[in-house]
Amino acid sequence: MRIVALVGQKGGVGKTTTTMNLAAVMAKHSRVLVVDVDPQQSTTWWAENAGESLPFTFAADVDPSNLARLRELDFDTIFVDTPGSLEDTRVLSAVLDVADFVVLPLNPEPLNTPAMVRTIRQHIEPRGIPFRVLLSKIDRRRAGQLEDWERLVDDGLKLPRFKQYIRLYAAHADAPLTGRVVTQYPDTRQNSNAIFDYTHVAMELMAIWANHTPTPKEAKA
Ligand SMILES: Nc1ncnc2c1ncn2[C@@H]1O[C@H](COP(=O)(O)OP(=O)(O)OP(=O)(O)O)[C@@H](O)[C@H]1O
Ligand SMILES: [Mg+2]
Repeated sequence: MRIVALVGQKGGVGKTTTTMNLAAVMAKHSRVLVVDVDPQQSTTWWAENAGESLPFTFAADVDPSNLARLRELDFDTIFVDTPGSLEDTRVLSAVLDVADFVVLPLNPEPLNTPAMVRTIRQHIEPRGIPFRVLLSKIDRRRAGQLEDWERLVDDGLKLPRFKQYIRLYAAHADAPLTGRVVTQYPDTRQNSNAIFDYTHVAMELMAIWANHTPTPKEAKA
């Protein structure tokens, strides 16, 4: 079993969207649980709008102090959505203490970058947890945006990132209200691109895990 934390102390970068959609893609072939430890409960609201149709198991309002017990559960992957707050690091610390892997969404907005780098340096690297930056809300109509941000992460920040990026689509912004996850979007060309993005991130995750020696936390599972 692997516990994946979606982290970003800056609000609105796409943690909840990534949690729900990566979970949906992975649930096609494995047992997936999504856990919401965010007091804002965005994932919970989304799940309520979805009703019975979510393709994975969902646990609302989980107390961060109970996270260690997740290991006892029978799932292949557990995604933990975390709050976007710079002040309260208690929840973040509790999640990172159990996480095997961290995904950090990053938007092409320069002011988001320092917060992400700080989170990595102060909380993730000291714990030795493998992580990847995920470029999200990339607008392909803006020439050069993707390339500039890939260069910034690779050569400027020198941080590991998913080769796949998440494009900016209105369907993602509407999804929490309709309760849909990406695998349930209506069949249009743009939506097939949206599915492609998350599917390829999931494939990269599996490839990383296939080539990686289990950490002590994972070996316990
Ligand atoms: N790829 C995308 N394309 C378009 N809209 C997106 C995309 N990803 C996220 N959004 C929208 O951006 C907003 C913020 O996304 P989300 O709620 O996933 O971020 P978050 O990091 O969980 O925020 P918070 O820190 O408040 O929990 C939402 O309205 C969401 O629908
Ligand atoms: Mg959120």
